[in-house]
Amino acid sequence: MELIVARNREDLVKVRHEGTVALVPTMGALHEGHRSLIRQARVRADQVVVSIFVNPLQFGPNEDFSRYPRTFEADLDVCRAEGVDVVFHPSAEDMYTPDRQVSVSAGEMGRVVEGAFRPGHFDGVLTVVLKLFNLVRPDLAVFGQKDAQQLALIRRMVADLDLPIEILGAPTVREPDGLALSSRNRYLSDDDRRVALALSRALRTGAAELAPAEIRRAARAVLDAAGPELTVDYLALVDPATFAEVSDDYVGLAVLAVAAKVGGTRLIDNVTLTLNPA
Ligand code: PAF
Repeated sequence: MELIVARNREDLVKVRHEGTVALVPTMGALHEGHRSLIRQARVRADQVVVSIFVNPLQFGPNEDFSRYPRTFEADLDVCRAEGVDVVFHPSAEDMYTPDRQVSVSAGEMGRVVEGAFRPGHFDGVLTVVLKLFNLVRPDLAVFGQKDAQQLALIRRMVADLDLPIEILGAPTVREPDGLALSSRNRYLSDDDRRVALALSRALRTGAAELAPAEIRRAARAVLDAAGPELTVDYLALVDPATFAEVSDDYVGLAVLAVAAKVGGTRLIDNVTLTLNPA
């Protein structure tokens, strides 16, 4: 089947849905991590739709919206190779009318951890994801665990707003040395990349411990050892459902999440671990 490219909402309306439809929302610059999301969608659905849209609403005024990598032709090659059925690639004008008023609020959960450093970011993410759900009308949608707070908030939105969509989380794909794949990795120089390895190393070191205080201490020591080239925004050990910091006696699954800047590039990473097992 030939790949259908829908460049606006009118094109998308003309696409006939066939059986179970899966949506993989992306901002393009597709890499192996996106391929794994597409493959997960392919296994579950008859029709796979990939959206490629760099969403202005989720970037702050001093963030990298204008320089965010846009590699549309290469992205289409990835989609063809992965057997995607439809690519939805709208313009910002098509997605957002100048007089729009209503948007989604991520609530308190959108203001903590990553949200504390990127005010409004999760409101922008949820607004575009809800619009994509309404435009594509998928049965299921696949998101990466790499953006753990985004995934948790999308699950909350689906539950809180009664959206009839199943959300699947896909494991983070890493380079052999541990660096989590990200479209922003292409900004890193060789030196930056070496420094950036401290993020995954800190998470691995923390995850080898069992108690919250030890996990935080062990992970923080690795980040501190990376030197002044690494500016840490946060290291957080949180409940995966709420992103609230866990207490020392917390038992069960938790997310250890980190965000840091290397050179001009901001990176995030996380691991899921079990705290205080019996
Ligand atoms: O994870 C992303 O690439 C984006 O935040 C998403 C979900 C496509 C919304 O713009």
